[in-house]
Amino acid sequence: MQPTRRNFIKGVTATTVVAATESMARPFSIIRNLNKVSPNDKIRIATIGMGIQGNYDTQAALRNPDVELVAVADLYDGRLEHARTAFSKDLFTTRDYREILARKDIDAVLIVTPDHWHDHITIAALKAGKHVYCEKPMVHHINEGKAVIDAWKKSGKTMQVGSQRISSAAFQEAKRLVQAGDIGAINYIESNSDRFNAIGAWNYSIPTDASPQTLDWDRFLGDAPKRPFEAARFFRWRNYRDYGTGVAGDLFVHLITGVHFVTNSMGPNRIYSSGNLAYWKDGRDVPDVMTSVMDYPKSDQHEAFQMVLRVNFANAGKINNMTRIIGNEGQIEFSENGLIMTKKKLPLAPGYGGYDSYFTFTEDVQKEFTKQYDAKYPPETRTAEPVKEVRFESPKNDDAHGRHFGDFFDNIRKGSQGTIEDPVFGFRAAAPVLACNESYFEKKVVYWDPVTMTQKTGPGPAKPAPQKPVAAAAKKK
Ligand SMILES: NC(=O)c1ccc[n+]([C@@H]2O[C@H](COP(=O)([O-])OP(=O)(O)OC[C@H]3O[C@@H](n4cnc5c(N)ncnc54)[C@H](O)[C@@H]3O)[C@@H](O)[C@H]2O)c1
Repeated sequence: MQPTRRNFIKGVTATTVVAATESMARPFSIIRNLNKVSPNDKIRIATIGMGIQGNYDTQAALRNPDVELVAVADLYDGRLEHARTAFSKDLFTTRDYREILARKDIDAVLIVTPDHWHDHITIAALKAGKHVYCEKPMVHHINEGKAVIDAWKKSGKTMQVGSQRISSAAFQEAKRLVQAGDIGAINYIESNSDRFNAIGAWNYSIPTDASPQTLDWDRFLGDAPKRPFEAARFFRWRNYRDYGTGVAGDLFVHLITGVHFVTNSMGPNRIYSSGNLAYWKDGRDVPDVMTSVMDYPKSDQHEAFQMVLRVNFANAGKINNMTRIIGNEGQIEFSENGLIMTKKKLPLAPGYGGYDSYFTFTEDVQKEFTKQYDAKYPPETRTAEPVKEVRFESPKNDDAHGRHFGDFFDNIRKGSQGTIEDPVFGFRAAAPVLACNESYFEKKVVYWDPVTMTQKTGPGPAKPAPQKPVAAAAKKK
């Protein structure tokens, strides 16, 4: 059969589904198979949710060759009008995303709505036979993840989740260095993402014509509790748990995605958060200061390590945002334009003297100690390798966002369901950060099984509560 645009987009077979199932075990594999298509075939896309990121995503998608934007859905008329000016006056625009899913001439959709709509539109789009690029976090609640994965597997369609930084040159290089063992076994990862300004704290501008007439308030609410129109909830939805996922779902998710990419990890098994609403007391119901600690168990890909993530939207001090991966033989610190790796290896000999117990020994013991030390540690074991710093600068025109879409489109063309950030990968990143919220709001430790992707009630099998000896208990009374 001559490959045409329609038959390549349709032509995903049962083999793909099997291959996709394999990717559950190997989350980073790109599944190659099937219907090679002419590279000249155009992929026709539609964006659902043309707000801030919808515009950036669409522009990034269109930086790839042979991709055409044909339709846009959004709930606010002003954004539909803006899209016709910004992209094409001939765009099909609608408030109802279902009209887009019903169109046979659309191959792929970009889902860039608030978080509470991600699972609904993703599942409907996959069922309608569309390839899906869905923004992070993949889901709003942990219990929505499996349904998205199932719909993806069943659909035979390609899906990419949108934490695009893993497609940057710096993350690719960090992965190469870590996998080559350059910093030894990772033991700790830390990252903070502080801000101190209103827009950074999600108080985005509200258009002057916002009203129930110019936007579809009821549809915006979706599965969230019904309530009267409130422009702030529509345009600043991140501040409310009904629609958003707080600093964890919004910001931690990028970092954890990067960490899983670099370390090949499937995720943590124990998650704890603490925090506070310290400054932005503007009606929001999410914290503006939050720290989460995650324990990553040893796996066949890495040793056990700890990860500490922090956001402080009220940091009026010196803001020094950084991400650091620390290993037993060095560290990688991400900089604005790349990364700096510092290699530091301890000598075999531990040394003695200085602030040490050695001086407290008697003279005879000191002599004997020195004798034994010299015998055990010959001179070549006593000097550390010089500390080495390696800098990696990302190319000036590094386009992670465009490349992330490129990976999506390449896999559509190959007839492969898998992508660099497929739904299994996307859920393994989303679930632990959503668990950060659960820990914060319910003041508890959350246990997670990163392999089976299920929540657990405790660290191991339930143990019976210890019984007091009857006699002792009776005596006390
Ligand atoms: N990958 C990144 O770096 C990155 C950056 C920012 C935002 N995001 C993600 O992108 C998504 C959107 O964020 P944003 O900042 O663009 O928000 P936004 O409020 O600017 O835009 C969201 C748009 O979605 C529309 N919308 C809401 N419900 C809809 C529905 N049912 N059907 C059609 N349109 C609907 C709204 O009208 C609005 O215009 C979020 O999931 C966010 O986490 C990702």
